[in-house]
Amino acid sequence: MKLNFNLLLVLPFFLACTANQNDEKKLSSAKVSEQKILIDTTAYNLTINGKKTKIFELTNQNGVKLLITNYGARVVSIIVPDKNDRPTDVSLGYDSVKTYQKKDEPYFGAIIGRFGNRINEGKFTLDGKNYQLQLNDGKNTLHGGKDGFFGKVWDAKLVNRNTLQLSYFSKDGEAGYPGNVNTTVVYTLTDDNSIKIDYTATTDKTTVLNLTNHTYFNLNGEGDHSILDHELSIAANKYTPVNETLIPTGKIESVKGTPFDFTTAKAIGKDIEADNEQLKYGKGYDHNFVLDKNDGKTPIATVKSIKTGIKMEIFTTEPGLQFYSGNFLTGTTKDGKGGKSYSFRSAFCLETQHFPDSPNQPAFPTTVLKPGQTYTTSTTYKFLVDKN
Ligand code: GAL
Repeated sequence: MKLNFNLLLVLPFFLACTANQNDEKKLSSAKVSEQKILIDTTAYNLTINGKKTKIFELTNQNGVKLLITNYGARVVSIIVPDKNDRPTDVSLGYDSVKTYQKKDEPYFGAIIGRFGNRINEGKFTLDGKNYQLQLNDGKNTLHGGKDGFFGKVWDAKLVNRNTLQLSYFSKDGEAGYPGNVNTTVVYTLTDDNSIKIDYTATTDKTTVLNLTNHTYFNLNGEGDHSILDHELSIAANKYTPVNETLIPTGKIESVKGTPFDFTTAKAIGKDIEADNEQLKYGKGYDHNFVLDKNDGKTPIATVKSIKTGIKMEIFTTEPGLQFYSGNFLTGTTKDGKGGKSYSFRSAFCLETQHFPDSPNQPAFPTTVLKPGQTYTTSTTYKFLVDKN
C-alpha cells in the first residue's frame, strides 16, 4: 500500500526567536518547534454507502492545525503550541476511518445529532404523537442512537484554508426522529487560535434537535494518562442532578458546597473521589452544568494544563455544558493515535448543549424545532499558552 505521509511541519509557532532574543530558553524552544507530526492521510480515504470519506486540514498564521474528517464531521487532531512552542495534539482520536468505525468509542471528536446526551427510554411526545428512538445505552438513547450523526458521511466543502463546511441530510424517521432535517456545521480556525463551530439546521416537520461536538481533550497532549491535574473552572452556579441511568431528575440544584462547584478554578481530581451519590452514578463527573451566561462572548469554562501551559477557553450560545471526565475510557486497546491506549480519565469532554432529556422535561429550555425556524448555535474553543 502506498502511504502518502503528510508531514505536518509546525514551524515555528509564534516566530518567538528573533535575533535579539536568542537566550538559552528561546534557542531550545526553537529546536523543539521543528518536530514533525506524521499523519497518514490515505487512511481516511474510504467509501461508505457510496460516499467518500477524507481528511481536511485547516491552518492559521501561527501554524496551528485542525484536522477534520467528514466521517462524523469529526475533529481528528488539534495541534497547538505548548509553553516551549512544541506542537502538541490535544485531541484524542484514531489513525484511520476504519478504526473510528469499530466504535470502541464512536464519539471521539464527532458532531453529535440529532440529540446530544440521553433521552429517557428513547421516548418523547410531540404534537400529541409518541416517538420511540433507537435504544443504545441500556434502556435509554444516547447521542442520537446507533444511527446518529457521528457515523454518517457528511458533504464537505473546503471554503478556504481556515474554514470547512460540512452538511448532512437526515431523512424523516432516521433513528426514530421526525422530520427531514438539513444540518450544516462550519468549522473555522481563526488567527487568534480559536476553533469556532457554527451549527444551523432546518426541518420540514416539528422535531427536537440538540447538536454538539464531542472532542475528547487532554491538554497535556493526547495519550497522556490523566487529566486529573488539569485546572478547570465552569461559570455555572447550578447543575442538573441525574438518576442512576444518568437521566436528569428534573431538579436544578446549586453547586455550592458540592464537588460540582467549579466557579473558582480547581484541579479536576480535587473532589472527584468525594463520597457523593452523583459522582457514583457518573463514575466521576458526567453532568450537565447550567451556564450563568450564554452570550457567546463571556468564557463559560477555562481549562489549563500545568505541564504544557496550554489553556483552553470556551464560549457558547448554548444554555448547558456537559462535563464528562472520561470515566468510560478503559485503556484496554492500543487503537489510539500511534498505537496509544487511552486510559480511564485520560481525557475530558466539555460539550455545549441543551440539557439532556429536554423533550421529557418541561422546565428545561426547549429543544423543539419547527418548520420555518432555523436552528442556529455557535461554540468556540480558544487556545492560549501560559509561558510561566
Ligand atoms: C458523554 C456522556 C457520557 C458518555 C460519553 C461517551 O457525552 O455524558 O455518559 O456516554 O459521552 O462515552
